[in-house]
Amino acid sequence: MIPDELIEQIKDAADLVGVVGESVGLKKSGADWRGPCPFHGGTHRNFAVIPKKGLYYCYVCHAAGDVFSFLMKRFGMDYPTAVRDVARRVGITVPDRAERQGPDPREPLFQAVAVAQEWFAARLRESPDAENARRYLESRDLPLPQAAELGLGYAPGDKSFQSALAGLGVTEPVLLEAGLVVRRDDGSVGPRFRSRLLFPIRDLRGRVVAFGGRLLGPGEPKYLNSPETPIFHKGSTLYHLHEARHAIRKEGVAILVEGYFDALRPALAGIEHVVAPLGTALTAEQAALLARYAPAAILLYDSDAAGLRATFRAGDELLRHGVRVRVATLPPGQDPDSLVRAGGKAALEAILEDAVDVLERKIQLLERKGWFTGVERRRDALDKLLPTVRATKDPIAKDLYLGRVAEATGVTRGVLEQELAARAAAPTAPAPVPARAADRTAPPRRPGRRRDGARWEGRLLQVLISDPSWLDRAREAVTPERFEVPAFREIYTALLALPPSEGPLRAAEKLAPAALDVWNRLVQSAQDLGPIDWDAEYTGALQALDDRDRLRSLPPPTT
Ligand code: UTP
Ligand code: MN
Repeated sequence: MIPDELIEQIKDAADLVGVVGESVGLKKSGADWRGPCPFHGGTHRNFAVIPKKGLYYCYVCHAAGDVFSFLMKRFGMDYPTAVRDVARRVGITVPDRAERQGPDPREPLFQAVAVAQEWFAARLRESPDAENARRYLESRDLPLPQAAELGLGYAPGDKSFQSALAGLGVTEPVLLEAGLVVRRDDGSVGPRFRSRLLFPIRDLRGRVVAFGGRLLGPGEPKYLNSPETPIFHKGSTLYHLHEARHAIRKEGVAILVEGYFDALRPALAGIEHVVAPLGTALTAEQAALLARYAPAAILLYDSDAAGLRATFRAGDELLRHGVRVRVATLPPGQDPDSLVRAGGKAALEAILEDAVDVLERKIQLLERKGWFTGVERRRDALDKLLPTVRATKDPIAKDLYLGRVAEATGVTRGVLEQELAARAAAPTAPAPVPARAADRTAPPRRPGRRRDGARWEGRLLQVLISDPSWLDRAREAVTPERFEVPAFREIYTALLALPPSEGPLRAAEKLAPAALDVWNRLVQSAQDLGPIDWDAEYTGALQALDDRDRLRSLPPPTT
């Protein structure tokens, strides 16, 4: 098996015009090349090679494909042979065939997800049950033909999925492994996605490997993703990268947005170089992946406090991977989807045009809030700026950043350099926070305990929400005052106030919008974690909280 990444590299490096041109007489026509179609034996120039997209297409017989499929169809090669042939031409070494372990054991999973995607898409187009989904799309200004083209689907509310897939030859164990059905506590198996609009998530080769599912109405979680599977690793996948990759290379920059609609809407409007992390804070793997496609990124997140936190966090991650980062600022309350819907491509272009360097943006915000006035606040401002400087891998960018921070804070460059060196010696790299919940709800990053404690507060709540039978034990052990994050405290208080017979969802109804938002994220990230040993989770969270509070009560160290 040749790794996907390598195949992708080979394909991107391939000279499609050269390969086709060896057996077809091509002539340049604008940005494309034209010649007689070798597949239906045409004599007119109806066969187009489109280098920008890496595709060929015959306007008469509709033969279409990439460099590999050209070699396969034209010369009868099988897929691995075609890949190796192109690899040889572009000078990329492919590990020897002898090392191959036979066919990819994950093949049944790819097949299952592909079959499911087609079935879901057909439901969206035709099923009477999906009428509300079609209306929803219309209300969001996404006409059905466009949705169909994007491969969107609908997961019905009933259990028809399983029997339908069984009828198409996909067995239950495969459905389970592909994360398309779940086994419940009572042993029964049901569809993972119900009454949701589904966005297919593709890997680098364009194969659908997972889905993101949005509820049509209120409820939670708003978005539910496929779980981790052998073919889907959320933390190393960027949504829409397969579709956007040529545009990203061409533009030399990738635009990073938060959501599915936020990626699709600009793409439909002709701004194609857009990708999104999948409901998580941008991971190191995602940053590394992006760095392979472009030397620069523009962060286009919501401008609320949570969005800004996510922005700067992603910014540091990208800087660590040598990517230049700019920040584009949306009008308050807007996201890329709503912006493009209202103002078209031009509205987004204007905002991208105004994007400013990420460090500059930080300085701007601090300045506006008066952080550079008093001595004390300047010290705090430095604490916010230096991590970004420290994260920057590119030495020239780092040098420029140092100069800029010195200028903004009035601290001399030499002192800043010392500070950087000192901190570099004592690593403070934060533990990775896996879930978006923790990312969005943690208080502003401070070194050490506080942030860590907040994570455990969230964990404990996840246990209590998922399995309220722990509530009585928690009631005895933890007072609401011990929750330091206000939204967490509010959630905990609401859970404690729950009448004994009520399910946890009733607690959510009592929450203020901000806390409800946090609640939703906790629920989602708990689901993303997959099957959990709640007992161990509860004990662990409680222990961590106890440790934290015990540490707090110790007198400060005297050195
Ligand atoms: P938003 O809540 O900002 O949603 O989450 P959105 O993309 O604007 O969605 P619409 O417009 O209301 O449909 C941004 C992204 O965060 C992830 C999803 O990837 C979503 O697109 N998310 C959000 C989750 O994974 N789970 C959630 O419960 C919410
Ligand atoms: Mn939105």
